[in-house]
Amino acid sequence: MKVGVFDSGIGGLSVAKAIKKALPELEISFKNDPDHVPYGSRQPDAIFRFIEPIFQSFIDEGCQVIVVACNTVTTTLISRLRERFEVPLVAVEPMVKPAAKLTKTGVIAVCATPTTLASARYAELKRDYAADVTVIEPDCSDWTRMIEAGEVDQAHIAERINSALEQNADVIVLGCTHYHWIEAEIKTLAGNRATVMQPESALIRQLQRVLAPLS
Ligand code: DGL
Repeated sequence: MKVGVFDSGIGGLSVAKAIKKALPELEISFKNDPDHVPYGSRQPDAIFRFIEPIFQSFIDEGCQVIVVACNTVTTTLISRLRERFEVPLVAVEPMVKPAAKLTKTGVIAVCATPTTLASARYAELKRDYAADVTVIEPDCSDWTRMIEAGEVDQAHIAERINSALEQNADVIVLGCTHYHWIEAEIKTLAGNRATVMQPESALIRQLQRVLAPLS
């Protein structure tokens, strides 16, 4: 069974690696969009134009499922993509619901791109699941660029995470797959003061559910 995995850049690679480790029998085709990464400050219509031919190429090469390993794409375009493409799409989005359930302090921090944070879907997640919770949104607008360039500014990351901890956040959501590459650093900064959440395990369980009837 062949599965496509898409992200704007190397964020999706960490997701593809996790899928390959959990489900080694799958053939994985990973594609990204090096000409247009980062997507995180772009408008949804522009992103749709970039990804439409890429998703079509997954289908042309026989992928039976496409994993949208990009929160920015999911939160802005998932409905439009599901209308346009018939194959099942398995997608990541910021884990607001489980974070809101887990917090004891009533404060969570969501690290995500500006386009994700501005999306209607993200507003809906907060309204539906985090109405009673304070949601801090650290400015991570430069993180994708830094991670793509391999120029991670540790002091800058520490400043953002420490500020969230000082505001009492006890759950930190990695709402952009690029940030999976700095998960270990963020966990070290959080220590035992906050739980760091990212969606790879949940995504793999969902992928298994979607694949079961196809195999
Ligand atoms: N990795 C993506 C996400 O999960 C997109 C980052 C970007 O291209 O700005 O949102």
